[in-house]
Amino acid sequence: MAKSDVNILGISAFYHDSAACLLRDGKILAAAQEERFTRKKHDAAFPVHAIEFCLKEGNLAAQDLALVAFYDKPFLKFERIMETYMSACPYGLSSFLKAVPMWIKKKIWIKDLIQEKLGYQGKILFPEHHESHGASAFFPSPFQEAAVLTIDGVGEWATASYGTGKANRLDLLAEIHFPHSLGLIYSAFTYYAGFKVNSGEYKLMGLAPYGEPKFKDLILKELIDLKEDGSFRLNLRYFDYCAGLRMINKRFENLFGAPARTVETRLTQHYMDVARSIQDVTEEVMLRMARHVHKETGMKNLCLAGGVALNCVGNGKILRNGPFEKIWIQPAAGDAGGALGAACLAWHQYLENPRQADGVTDSQQGSFLGPMFERNDIKNFLDKQGIHYTELSNADLPPTIADLLAQENVVGWFEGRMEFGPRALGARSILGDARSAKMQETMNLKIKFRESFRPFAPSVTRESVSKYFELEHESPYMLLVAPVRKELCREMTAEEQKLFGLKKLNVVRSTLPAVTHVDYSARIQTVDRNQNPLFYDTLKAFEKMNGCSVLINTSFNVRGEPIVCTPEDAYRCFMRTNMDYLIIGNFLLEKKNQKPLEKDIDWLREFELD
Ligand SMILES: [Fe+2]
Repeated sequence: MAKSDVNILGISAFYHDSAACLLRDGKILAAAQEERFTRKKHDAAFPVHAIEFCLKEGNLAAQDLALVAFYDKPFLKFERIMETYMSACPYGLSSFLKAVPMWIKKKIWIKDLIQEKLGYQGKILFPEHHESHGASAFFPSPFQEAAVLTIDGVGEWATASYGTGKANRLDLLAEIHFPHSLGLIYSAFTYYAGFKVNSGEYKLMGLAPYGEPKFKDLILKELIDLKEDGSFRLNLRYFDYCAGLRMINKRFENLFGAPARTVETRLTQHYMDVARSIQDVTEEVMLRMARHVHKETGMKNLCLAGGVALNCVGNGKILRNGPFEKIWIQPAAGDAGGALGAACLAWHQYLENPRQADGVTDSQQGSFLGPMFERNDIKNFLDKQGIHYTELSNADLPPTIADLLAQENVVGWFEGRMEFGPRALGARSILGDARSAKMQETMNLKIKFRESFRPFAPSVTRESVSKYFELEHESPYMLLVAPVRKELCREMTAEEQKLFGLKKLNVVRSTLPAVTHVDYSARIQTVDRNQNPLFYDTLKAFEKMNGCSVLINTSFNVRGEPIVCTPEDAYRCFMRTNMDYLIIGNFLLEKKNQKPLEKDIDWLREFELD
């Protein structure tokens, strides 16, 4: 590090998925979520480990930081919480008593906490929550100017906002305020369908294609007053998140004619229809918002962030049916990305540093911003543990892995820097052959230990995406859903239509059965050689051998566990599951050559079920 370098640390904490990010002279040097280090999924604690990693990556101490930026304004958030409880008094008393002491003790004294934990005495900035989301969407994007739309649960008061990004400035023009929130209504339905709030939302999205939008009109009539411009008000008579500890109340359950599902009970058609209905409403809101933002800003391109921007089905609709030419979605669209946004705001807006974007390349670097492990680190670990391996040359690696995959082996893939954001993008992934009819079931039951009604996601070379999917646009961060091309699909028979869950999912519906959802859609990652050469070359080697440049890419973890971070995490996960091979750097491990793990914990019980 040179003396003249300006280092900025961004932090997000205390809500969902704490994270840290380091910028040096405006370049993203490092970013990671705390959960990867503590191995606690969605860890919301102050991200000491992620900060430590960022500082180490930058080879600097906290005193060398020019600025620290925290991703929201704790006092404003506290004010919103106080006012909400006051207005709901006395109904809000139980949740008030639960939440407030923690806020007073920890959250509103964040300045002191940062100073104390970091030993840092310099300036700390507190941008607003949606400014941080907006900044995370615009500043790393490839666009010199763009419209910006952020949608999430809630920050301080805002739950959605839009504005423009131009060169080095972000200007938010309008907001929707709590308690009217698209993120929260989606979470309320997540709760109603029996999934965990703040993490089960993508399951609700995955469940939707099994249902019919029977309740869409009811939702639009009773729950949400949606305007043409995408703004809305919720009918709070049906929700309990302001006052109580539950998302919804009895009136909500009566409206839909059935109680909220509990985790242990079967998913019936009713909950699938409800999932489809709220998903359709959400897409409608997202589209109307996008159209309005386009009209108001006159921009050609759109940047998206906030938890709702992880709704990749909605994103796909905005791209296909919306008015924008191109869209860019922050890969860490949830609150983790706020750390990055806050740091970018500090650099561009507060310190007024210029920004030049070429319209094509983003500065997110494939989101490969986490820890990486050098050859010697990996070798030392393997040797110390007495682990059997063979070392491949760079040239041999892609064809060797492609060949193993073509033989229907499941391969753990640990290469380069860990991803920042919730998706595995070819650094900490589990790979399989998307053409295999049995791969869906094999990976679900023998690797992930779950019975999922969601298909796996495909990775495909950037240039071949439109050969397999109805998508021309790039999707490097797996945040767009698009249909599988018609000529690759096979109609389900009436009998097959009646099947549910895995049984329906396991019916061969296309030449890429493992990645095709029951509505013939897929959540796509396009792979560019510039961002991930080894992964790209493996896809190319697979294509050369088999005429297909698509692979299954699922996150390297088991049910309930955060994605692996270190070689040790990867080896443990490999040994606990029925993965056949693990490639870690250039070292190839074969399962049948390994000794069983000694003294393993009962991890299937240990991890929270998802
Ligand atoms: Fe947020």
